Formats: sequence, C-alpha cells, structure tokens
Amino acid sequence: MDNLAKHAVIIGDSRKMSELASGSIQVCVTSPPYFRNKKYETQYSTYPEYRRYLIGIWKEVNRVLADSGLLFVNIGNSFDNQFKSHEVARDVVDLGFHFVQPVIWVKGHHSPVQGETHLNHLYEHIFIFSKTEGYSLNRLAIGVPYKDKSNIGRWKIAKQDLRCRGDVWHINYETVQKHSEKMHDAIFPKMLPEMCIKLASKRKSDRILDPFLGSGTTILAASELGRKSIGYEINPSYEKIIRKKLNGVEELRFIRNS
Ligand SMILES: C[S@@+](CC[C@H](N)C(=O)[O-])C[C@H]1O[C@@H](n2cnc3c(N)ncnc32)[C@H](O)[C@@H]1O
Repeated sequence: MDNLAKHAVIIGDSRKMSELASGSIQVCVTSPPYFRNKKYETQYSTYPEYRRYLIGIWKEVNRVLADSGLLFVNIGNSFDNQFKSHEVARDVVDLGFHFVQPVIWVKGHHSPVQGETHLNHLYEHIFIFSKTEGYSLNRLAIGVPYKDKSNIGRWKIAKQDLRCRGDVWHINYETVQKHSEKMHDAIFPKMLPEMCIKLASKRKSDRILDPFLGSGTTILAASELGRKSIGYEINPSYEKIIRKKLNGVEELRFIRNS
C-alpha cells in the first residue's frame, strides 16, 4: 500500500500529511489541543483562529481516510466555554464527515473544582465520525460480560458472554505522583486509543493515524494490537518523550519535516 515503515513518527505539521496517500488510513484516533493555553498551543491566539487551525487538519484527515474509515476525536470542555467540544464536532461535520455518535469518557480522576459554583468535572467526549455511511463497528471487540448470564442465548444477538459496552466508557487516567514524572501535559490513557482501534479496525494491515501525536500513545496502542501506524507531532521538543514511550516498538522510523 505504501513505502512507510510499519510505524512512523513524523516530527512535523499534520496540516499537510504528504507522506500519506488519499484513502490510506482506516482509523484516526486523536486528541487535539483544547485551547487552554497549554505551552504547546502557540499556533493561534484567538478561539476562531483555533477552530480554523483544527479545520485545516480535519480536511487532511478527510483526504487520507478510507471511505469505510472512522475518526475518533477526544476533546474536553472548560467552564469558560462549555460548547467547545460540540463546536469542534460541528466543524468536523460541516466538512462532510458523518457523525456516528458521542461517547462519554469517564476519567476516574479529575482536578477538584474549588468554590460553590460548579460540580467536579469527571468526563470528556470521544466523538466518533465516519467518512461515509459505509462503515461498521466491531462492537463485541470491546464488549463486556453480561451481569445476568441467563441473557446468553436468550436473544438472537447474545451468542456469547459479551454485550455491547455502550457509549459511556470508564477508563482511568494514568496518574503520576510527581510533576517531574509527567512526560507531556495532556496524555490520554493507552486504553483509550486501544478501544477505538479494536472497535474500528478489523484487519492487521490497517494503518492507524494520530495527527496530534503528543507523547506517542496512539502509536504504542496500535503497535501492541499489531496494526500499522503513523503520528504527527509539530513540537520537536517532544521527540525525546516519544522515543522513550516507544522504546521497544519494532519497525519504528522517525522522520523530521521542517
Ligand atoms: C492534546 S496533545 C495530544 C496528547 C496525546 N494524545 C498523548 O497521549 O500524548 C496535542 C498535541 O498536538 C500537537 N500539535 C498541535 N498542532 C499540531 C500540528 N499541526 N501537527 C502535529 N502536531 C500538532 C501539540 O504539540 C500537542 O503535543
């Protein structure tokens, strides 16, 4: 299909993914910057600029995704803009993606909210989009056992001790005790891309994309599931962190695009 290594890390900008042929990606799992003034958010200064910036990347994702491909976007809100995740989702749909559904990710860990104005915020979204309506989800690949085993065999679909997990996913944050142990400001737990890949990729030959690679979590998950992968990270200072996380991943190549 392509001449890329099994796993490729591109230190460069995903607004132009020239390494990737159109239609060559089966699954894209990603978490964009959240417009929260993180130190890696240097490419825009206003909210409209932020949305336009992301749109540039969703356009490229649309180009490289196969017609049966799926896009998973993990994004959280902040109290100063509680529509943000939905506005970003709207932008993705306006580009022509089909909105499959939102998943609620219950994080199991949160920063406590002080004062008496808000409740602690325990979840983020994982929005699922498809390029066309010709996709399917491998629901039982992330299924959960029935509580009441008498369900097995009772329904036509209940052939084994697994039922659909539904759209609320409890995935604990991988917490660190000391700030010095924190590799990157906004890492998602490996189980998150793992679940998305299991749900959306049926073939070992599928390539998984993360256009906002950060510390490299999506590549790690894809490699453990025996899939091919590619990730883009614009900030060259994260290369060291990515190398550390992906130490041990075979057939991994780094490419620097300036
Ligand atoms: C929320 S973090 C992703 C964290 C990642 N999910 C992980 O587990 O480590 C977003 C990342 O996107 C990167 N980024 C922002 N714009 C980019 C672009 N145009 N191309 C590639 N990477 C970009 C940022 O530098 C940041 O590291």
